[in-house]
Amino acid sequence: MKTLIVGAGALGGLIAARLTAAGVPVCLATRDAGSAAGLRASGLRVSGVGGALAVPVAAAGPVEQYLGAAFDLVVLATKAGDAMALAPRLPGLLGPGGTLLPIQNGSVALALAERLGVERVLGGLSNLGAAMTAPGTVEQRNAGHLLLGEVGGGESARAERVRAWLGRGVAARVTPNFRGAVWSKLLINCSGTTLGAIGGTTLRGFTATAHGRDLFHRAYDEALAVALASGARPERMAVDPVPPGWNGRSVPGEALDAWLAGVIAAYGDAKPSMLQDFERGRSTEIDFLNGHVADLGRRLGVPVPVNEALVEAAQAITRGRSAPGPELLERVWAAAGGGAFP
Ligand SMILES: NC(=O)c1ccc[n+]([C@@H]2O[C@H](COP(=O)([O-])OP(=O)(O)OC[C@H]3O[C@@H](n4cnc5c(N)ncnc54)[C@H](OP(=O)(O)O)[C@@H]3O)[C@@H](O)[C@H]2O)c1
Repeated sequence: MKTLIVGAGALGGLIAARLTAAGVPVCLATRDAGSAAGLRASGLRVSGVGGALAVPVAAAGPVEQYLGAAFDLVVLATKAGDAMALAPRLPGLLGPGGTLLPIQNGSVALALAERLGVERVLGGLSNLGAAMTAPGTVEQRNAGHLLLGEVGGGESARAERVRAWLGRGVAARVTPNFRGAVWSKLLINCSGTTLGAIGGTTLRGFTATAHGRDLFHRAYDEALAVALASGARPERMAVDPVPPGWNGRSVPGEALDAWLAGVIAAYGDAKPSMLQDFERGRSTEIDFLNGHVADLGRRLGVPVPVNEALVEAAQAITRGRSAPGPELLERVWAAAGGGAFP
């Protein structure tokens, strides 16, 4: 499969390096010619989980350089906003029958499939964790995998072909319930990750207080209600996606506390990537996470005041009008009609 990876950051760099080391040739598309020249000079280095390696980068250039090059597989590994901005140019990278594989968090794969057609877009998600520690240098942070699936659901020879190809470098699996997998991740991102980022802490950090736990459940409940109303059936990840006894809202009690303890054990200590975006003054993926839940909730008639307030809070931080911290979580609560914290 003639393969292009668009975006040579943490995930794109990791996938490119591990494929190259396994003898699978890939081309890399960068934001501009300068970044491509830097990559060709430095090569790619990987450290951390899965073992260290260093590989040369033979083919790297800006996206424009590859238009018309007819790739069989284009792995889109930019952040969500950049992925959508690139959308009009992506078909020009694919050959006949070629496949675009977006691997962003949130609703990107669904939005691109709607825009470019399900025949061109295979859904992708990453449970692989990685960070770029210096230009061309990536640290693999876990033993995760790429999850692939048809956006419309079901199994396909194409998903299996792409899995086998990428699986030569990184762990990759196929799910027949891709939409459900997207929502399982969204449920945690919209509650744990976003609240952690806005609170300037981790999921474990903000759920140490009763009001933090309450906000978590309200954000999660809204997202789950939207998922179910949209017809999605969230897949099980580290915990059951539907909290015990859930009746449209989480039901306080020992069973819910035990369920939340499972969520915290699985996801509680990671520094939210959105908090890193705030600290670096970069735009966030909030529009594709809580923003997607809020938009869909409004369309489906599901109330989403907490997710709407979280979008506003994240946008206020990005615009420099607020700073992450516990007091901002209190303001989110008030904006969502919660009154004073219990
Ligand atoms: N990293 C993880 O552990 C992880 C885990 C799960 C999911 N994800 C998701 O995976 C996606 C990528 O994350 P990441 O951490 O790899 O991000 P990242 O390190 O910021 O990498 C994104 C790369 O895309 C490049 N880029 C931006 N616009 C481009 C364009 N028009 N053409 C070509 N390249 C372009 C960026 O270049 P510049 O530096 O010049 O902007 C950067 O090198 C995100 O949606 C994230 O939520 C990441």
